[in-house]
Amino acid sequence: MEQIENTLGTSFGSFELQRFPLRKKETLRAWDAADEYLLQYLEENELLHDDVSILIVNDAFGALSVPLSHFTPVVMTDSYLTMQAISANLKANDLDYDSVTMINSLHAPGSVLQHGNENGIADIVLIKIPRSLAMLEDQLHRIRSAVDGSTRIIAAGMTKKIHMSTLSLFEKIIGPTKTSLAHKKSRLIFSEFDAGLAVDENPYPDKFEIGYQLDGAELEVSNHAGVFSRDKLDIGARLFIENLPVDERYKVIVDLGCGNGVLGLMAAIKNPSAKLIFSDESYMAVESAISNFVEVFGESRDAEFLQTDCLHGVADNSVSLVLCNPPFHQDNAINDDVAWQMFTESKTALEPNGELWVIGNRHLAYHAKLKHLFGTCEVVASNKKFTLLKAVKK
Ligand SMILES: C[S@@+](CC[C@H](N)C(=O)[O-])C[C@H]1O[C@@H](n2cnc3c(N)ncnc32)[C@H](O)[C@@H]1O
Repeated sequence: MEQIENTLGTSFGSFELQRFPLRKKETLRAWDAADEYLLQYLEENELLHDDVSILIVNDAFGALSVPLSHFTPVVMTDSYLTMQAISANLKANDLDYDSVTMINSLHAPGSVLQHGNENGIADIVLIKIPRSLAMLEDQLHRIRSAVDGSTRIIAAGMTKKIHMSTLSLFEKIIGPTKTSLAHKKSRLIFSEFDAGLAVDENPYPDKFEIGYQLDGAELEVSNHAGVFSRDKLDIGARLFIENLPVDERYKVIVDLGCGNGVLGLMAAIKNPSAKLIFSDESYMAVESAISNFVEVFGESRDAEFLQTDCLHGVADNSVSLVLCNPPFHQDNAINDDVAWQMFTESKTALEPNGELWVIGNRHLAYHAKLKHLFGTCEVVASNKKFTLLKAVKK
């Protein structure tokens, strides 16, 4: 297998950077050509000086914030794993943990910049283009409070992720926008803040009906911009909901990788005496799950909401049932490492005879993985695209 190069060489020095969580046979680097292009642009255009205030949005594993840590940037991210990665990479390079201030994607960054010796306005905003257009839209709305006409707003992404629709969001929410030439299949976007622009309200979070009734009313779920299947119920999740198990033996049910929490919410409705645990690494997901659960049950129903990596923080042998619709990518890389980690950690968290229920696209072949791990695996339901599987801990 090809050896992965972990040293990012920049004009600010060389840095050892790893993806997070650490994996034994990692085949992917912790940065891309767009990170390198952006760092090079900052240096060549002499944009940095000792008291510059920098806001970085969507740095995946620290490729921007670690080299720029000398300038004490604020990093806004939706990912708990990104925060872990930045901390680990700062430490690995003997850099001060406090040199980077991390805030989650639900903040208005202006208020955080204000808490330093700043006026709440960033001199430079660096944005890595996120996977979802809705997420970018939400983030551009949020950064408006942290910029003025003097702020340099520079976004970066791989060319295949930058479309007319991407640029028109900048035009619509920030102001006049142009792009650089492509370099190693990446591109920069330069946007100038127009204070006089008539900007619509941030449309997120928004709601959709999931097609089930509760007490005679349509059940709706609320979704922050970055949440999986934000505008309609995922078809895999629908098959899951149609076949959710009901059993008084379920004392603790975990919705693992909960997104807006729709699986756990429906399981809670069908299993009224169970305690629910919702876990996700995305801040927007956990916040959406909380609001959807409270909307149905108020504060009365026992539930825990974990911002974590898979099941970290859940006691071994303590869970009766895990519901899981696993992710199939991390930071744009498509792989099943996270699904495998979720299955392995579920086995540890389940009590004897505890059950893991997994929904997956047929081609993902979760069946073989679960059989390997649990010894048996049963198909509970399937349609043309999805299979719902059940594995029981012996
Ligand atoms: C396919 S979505 C499923 C969302 C929801 N359960 C549904 O069915 O609509 C997978 C979820 O896993 C979350 N996720 C990804 N990596 C994770 C990790 N390491 N730990 C916890 N959650 C993670 C993602 O943020 C996403 O919300």
